[in-house]
Amino acid sequence: MDLLTIGVLAIIALATLIYLYFKKRFSYWENRGVVHLKPSFPLGNLSLKQPHFTEFMIDIYKYKGGTPLVGIYFVTKPIVIPIELDLIQNILVKDFSSFHARGMYVNEVDDPLSAHMFSLDGEKWKSIRTKLSPTFTSGKMKYMFLTVVAVAERFLETLGDSVKLESQLEVTDLLGRFTTDVIGSCTFGIECNSLKDPNSEFRQYGKKASSEPPMPLIMHMLVLLYPDLARKLHLRALRKDVTDFFLDTVRSTVNYLKENNIQRNDFMDLLIQINNNPNEADKISLEEMAAQAFLFFIAGFETSSSVMTFCLYELSLNQDIQEKAREEITQVLIDHDGKLTYEGMQQMTYLEKIVNETLRKYPSLPFLIRSTVRDYAMPDSNLVIEKG
Ligand code: HEM
Repeated sequence: MDLLTIGVLAIIALATLIYLYFKKRFSYWENRGVVHLKPSFPLGNLSLKQPHFTEFMIDIYKYKGGTPLVGIYFVTKPIVIPIELDLIQNILVKDFSSFHARGMYVNEVDDPLSAHMFSLDGEKWKSIRTKLSPTFTSGKMKYMFLTVVAVAERFLETLGDSVKLESQLEVTDLLGRFTTDVIGSCTFGIECNSLKDPNSEFRQYGKKASSEPPMPLIMHMLVLLYPDLARKLHLRALRKDVTDFFLDTVRSTVNYLKENNIQRNDFMDLLIQINNNPNEADKISLEEMAAQAFLFFIAGFETSSSVMTFCLYELSLNQDIQEKAREEITQVLIDHDGKLTYEGMQQMTYLEKIVNETLRKYPSLPFLIRSTVRDYAMPDSNLVIEKG
């Protein structure tokens, strides 16, 4: 056999192997008799042309009433999309012990910032979540509200300056700068100044972290499909410059607060208290602190600013609703001596409905992810949702 023939045979053999591999993987749902979307080679039900995730979900919800779940493929990985409320409740609440993971990629060694609550699974998640729960009390929210109002006043100044100069403004960007400054103050206790300076470091790194992935899409899929291999290859979950920036910021803030014995009753303060805990098991390291602070920043600024953007958009389309909201706000302010207070905010119930409706129509995070930590036998069914 000459070299050319060997080459051709090798290509045919490889192509056959790939074909058989995908054929086997893509028959997972069919073999189990589960209603599923037909996958295509090589991305399964992912599509680079997908207009928006909600359109994909509309396709899935066509099956509602006929089946408790729909099977899909994330590349070759089978995924369950539950569409029956009882099953959803079992997964999120009743049988949470089988679903307390999100299956995100964490690489604590090469990328300590990736080990935050949103990505951690199981005992690690539970441990950090328990230590940080005191952050989410209404008392803490009330305290932080003063900071939010202070930043809101700066927002008004910036808005006023902008409309003096231009008849149009990019509201998404302005709101992103507002939420960056709010979270910078509430979480890091740092004046990010992005309202005054659109190119402030926090804004730049926030944008990089949320919209500039550390690797091409194909590598990203490898990371999600084969996380153990990805860790062995030292693949990062975040860009190095982003990690360095947030780690340095937290390190210098903590050092400054400790050296000057400053107590501010904010998020960073709480983290320092946990860090100082004499009991090793109840402590968190500086890297763990930085990861949680980073999460608050990333989880908070884009989600909140996009809801506000869509809310303003809807209000501009629905002038009657806008008028009613304006009347409510004006009345509450009159009742509270012209000041925006935490108690006053609680009374803006119509505004709250508007925000909730905006979140329903334009969810910032349109799906919840859970990964099975053990095989899960579905109630009233022969189907087992396998581990992972
Ligand atoms: C409109 C704004 C927001 C939306 C729509 C939103 C949505 C979500 C969703 C869907 C999850 C996943 C929940 C789950 O898997 O069960 C989540 C988790 C989380 N969010 Fe938000 N979020 C918003 C704002 C914020 C803000 C402002 C912060 C903090 C400053 C924040 C911090 C977190 C944290 C720490 C987690 C992980 C919680 C855990 O693992 O226990 N989020 N968020």
